Amino acid sequence: MTQLHIDAQRLWADLMALAEHTEPNTPGWTRRFPSVAYQQGRQWLRAQMEAEGLVTRLDAVGNLFGRREGRADLLPIHAGSHTDTVMGGGRFDGALGTLGALEAARAIREAGIQLRHPLVVADYLSEEATDYAIACMGSLAMCTDHFKPAWLERSVNGVTLRQAIIDMGGQPDRLGQPVVKPGAIAASLELHIEQGPVLEARGVKLAAVSGIVGIQRALFELKGKANHAGATPMDLRKDALTAAARMICAIEDIARAHPGTVGTVGKVEVTPNQGNVIAGQVTIMAEMRSLDMAEVDGMWAEFRTLADAACASRGVTLQTFNETRMDAVIPPAWLHALVLDVCRRHEPATLAIPSGAGHDTNYLALVAPAAMIFVPSIDGRSHAPEEYTELADLARGVQALAEAIVAVDQNC
Ligand code: HGY
Ligand code: MN
Ligand code: MN
Repeated sequence: MTQLHIDAQRLWADLMALAEHTEPNTPGWTRRFPSVAYQQGRQWLRAQMEAEGLVTRLDAVGNLFGRREGRADLLPIHAGSHTDTVMGGGRFDGALGTLGALEAARAIREAGIQLRHPLVVADYLSEEATDYAIACMGSLAMCTDHFKPAWLERSVNGVTLRQAIIDMGGQPDRLGQPVVKPGAIAASLELHIEQGPVLEARGVKLAAVSGIVGIQRALFELKGKANHAGATPMDLRKDALTAAARMICAIEDIARAHPGTVGTVGKVEVTPNQGNVIAGQVTIMAEMRSLDMAEVDGMWAEFRTLADAACASRGVTLQTFNETRMDAVIPPAWLHALVLDVCRRHEPATLAIPSGAGHDTNYLALVAPAAMIFVPSIDGRSHAPEEYTELADLARGVQALAEAIVAVDQNC
């Protein structure tokens, strides 16, 4: 057995090749579910997996897996992340975890190591919140029964979620029951950029993630009455936009009143969105996050009460769509300790920090022992074209991931 060694240039070439698959004429890098760019990026990835000798498949929702059998008849070790992006995102969010897992599989083979467990390199479908409002859709459908068949009928730009999943290679009518039962995976590891400022500020190159926030999220549709902005007296209006504005400020006020939590409305669609017309319809996507989801439950109830009042007092109707609640997760102590030990081989000052971003690991943790490794983000930037991590830091993260896979293989 030779030294396990990551080929940094091969990793960088993969990251840049995947980055070529992006929406044209948009800033940064964009691979949105279910775009052609996203489909083509996954076709490229699948070919890379097969070139490495992995047996590939898509599950019912369209998660992509590349599998190498192990020496023994044991449960698989999963390593992966996602290859979709936000609009105008970067080249490393998700891509590092998926391509890093592929590079780890190559390095483990090249070191002459045949794992006891099967190894599954995973690209979980549609991790980013989409206009369908469901984030981590692939891992949610894989690991839980939260997927609601009613979601399949929701249409975005004329494409129903049903058709979008079919376009990505899934079989939507098989969804609703978990595709994977608890205990069916030996362990799950996800390498990810930190997407925050802590590692860089502390001058530390690796972190073992100590916990991942949970997220409560929903789409809200407010319907009032479009009307003339000048001829309609204030007391005769049904203004959907001022009702939405109250909701947006309520999310901020409630989150500010609960230190350690965050609340955001990042998406607002206004119809007809004209300066001299009272808004007839507004759609907003609202979310709250915390490591303490019991606290978020109370905050979300308070928000819903304020939302109902803001709409009722204006004669505006309020409908909720695709409400999801992703639990906060903490890695099991043994796996967290294993990841910390491996990381400390390459960064003695390895930190244990929580993730303010949600990840597929939130759902994998419901069916398997699951943990994450972070590498630094320059200026803490992510979900933007400026998202960047030095190649040496990327390679160090993949080295830690590969060694953590081997350590898990030996320990469970
Ligand atoms: O929104 C998130 O936390 C993640 O980037 N999908
Ligand atoms: Mn993201
Ligand atoms: Mn991500």
